[in-house]
Amino acid sequence: MFSRLNLDARDMTALSGAHTIGMANCMHYSDRVYGTDRDEEINPSFAQTMQQTCQGPSGKAPFDVQTPMRFDNAYYRNLIARRGLLTSDQTLYGDGGLHDNLVEMYSADGEAFARDFAKAMVKMGNVPPPMGMPVEVRLKCSPANY
Ligand code: HEM
Repeated sequence: MFSRLNLDARDMTALSGAHTIGMANCMHYSDRVYGTDRDEEINPSFAQTMQQTCQGPSGKAPFDVQTPMRFDNAYYRNLIARRGLLTSDQTLYGDGGLHDNLVEMYSADGEAFARDFAKAMVKMGNVPPPMGMPVEVRLKCSPANY
C-alpha cells in the first residue's frame, strides 16, 4: 500500500516509528500477545505483560511501554527486542533484509530517525486524496468533517 502511494521502504520504516507514542486497543494486538498469530516472534515476558492489559476488547496498551509519551527512537529498540506491539510493527524486523538495516540504524541514531521521519511525513502529506474526496484538516482525527 505504501509503495502504491510512492512511499518507499525507508519512508514506511520511518513513518512506522510514529508508534513510539500512543496506544492500541486489545482487539488490535490480542492475536499477537496470546500467540494466535505466530507470524512474528514475540518476547515471552513482553507477551505475558501485555496479556494482563488485554483482558477485554477495550484494554489499551502503550506502543512503547518505557517512554509512551516521548517521541523518540525506542520503537526500533523494541522491535529488535521482539517487543513490537502489533504484528505490522514487528514484521519490520527479522527477515534480514533492507528493513532490518533501517530498524538497526534508527535504533542507534535518533537524529537519523527524526530527519527521515520529517521527510517522510512531508511526502505522505503530499499524497493526493482519492478521487472525489475533499481535502480537509479534520476537526476530530477519527471521522471526516462532513
Ligand atoms: C503499516 C501501517 C500502519 C498500521 C497497520 C497501523 C495500525 C495502527 C493501529 C491498529 C493502531 C491502534 C488503534 C487503536 O487500537 O485505537 C494505531 C495507532 C496509532 N498509529 Fe498507526 N498504523 C500504521 C501506520 C501509522 C503511521 C504511518 C502513523 C503516523 C505517521 C501512525 C500513527 C499512529 C498513532 C500516533 C497511533 C496512536 C493513536 C492513539 O494513541 O490514539 N500509524 N496504528
